[in-house]
Amino acid sequence: MLSHTFVGQNRTVNKKSNKKQIKSIMDKITVVGAGNVGATCANVIAHKDLAREVVLVDIKEGLAEGKALDIWQTSSINNFNARVVGATNDYLRTKGSGVIVITSGVPRKPGMSRDDLIKTNASIVKDVTEKVVKYSPDAIIIVVSNPLDVMTYTAFLASNKPANKVFGMAGILDTGRYRAFIANALNVSPKDIHALLLGGHGDTMVPLPRYTSINGIPITDLLAKEEIDKIVERTRFGGGELVNLMGTSAWYAPGAAAAQMVEAIVDDQKRVLPVCAKLNGEYGLKDLYLGVPVKLGKGGVEEVIQLNLNKEELKSLKDSAASVKKTLDVLDAMKLF
Ligand code: LAC
Repeated sequence: MLSHTFVGQNRTVNKKSNKKQIKSIMDKITVVGAGNVGATCANVIAHKDLAREVVLVDIKEGLAEGKALDIWQTSSINNFNARVVGATNDYLRTKGSGVIVITSGVPRKPGMSRDDLIKTNASIVKDVTEKVVKYSPDAIIIVVSNPLDVMTYTAFLASNKPANKVFGMAGILDTGRYRAFIANALNVSPKDIHALLLGGHGDTMVPLPRYTSINGIPITDLLAKEEIDKIVERTRFGGGELVNLMGTSAWYAPGAAAAQMVEAIVDDQKRVLPVCAKLNGEYGLKDLYLGVPVKLGKGGVEEVIQLNLNKEELKSLKDSAASVKKTLDVLDAMKLF
């Protein structure tokens, strides 16, 4: 009884203090794609009360309306006000959105790499971006569709917007996996694990043990090199591990990760997070989108943060960039732009 009461009080306190931290709220946030990732993202955005209205859009008749209604029916249970509405292909409904999350496209199946999705997803992401920009020219766009780095570039080209307003979600998901694995290995709270990760959202991503700590204690002091190497490897293939288990790609962590970016923007938090951002000479790379630490606030990507990488880390980053460039060549050959 006592512990039950205690848990309840604790929750209320947390909830209140969370709410206090949210200084601003948007009129409207749109999530395009009511599949698993899009619906999860809209659900988290609604729970956090980040907007007065959350619009979920999908191409499949009734799907967005149904999932939005289902989420909205949790509002009295989970204590939020954000009105969640769905629309089938009706982009007028998205008019005036402050942030738009694009999750459209097909997910991968076992045996596929994220890059295999480019032929299908590039035209979808281009089309969706043009439609959302038409009704919300000032919106910040967060891309979640795969292959992530190239789909973010596609949205950038289709949007005609500055690069600080168009970026992608991958690093928060990948570090989320990395931190979960470290929490298991050390049996500590994942909340105390601070970590950075660079590169493309693919098997060449670059987790950075040198920039990973448990509240400041370097993990290199706590785990043997072989253990860290195993965690890094599992992180690189973390998406594939889930595809193999479920027959389709993950959604709880991807949806929550995108919602965390929305929160950083809505609340102008200036969070330092790994984001898929356009590079213009940083790390000696340009003309591509790649995962790097950025400062995220109401202006979108307000700064790309450059780390002092050692030779080995820089080489891994360049290899990852080269792999993203290869997929960009496939996009170029499609002549969509
Ligand atoms: C993943 C997919 C969503 O990494 O890219 O799970």
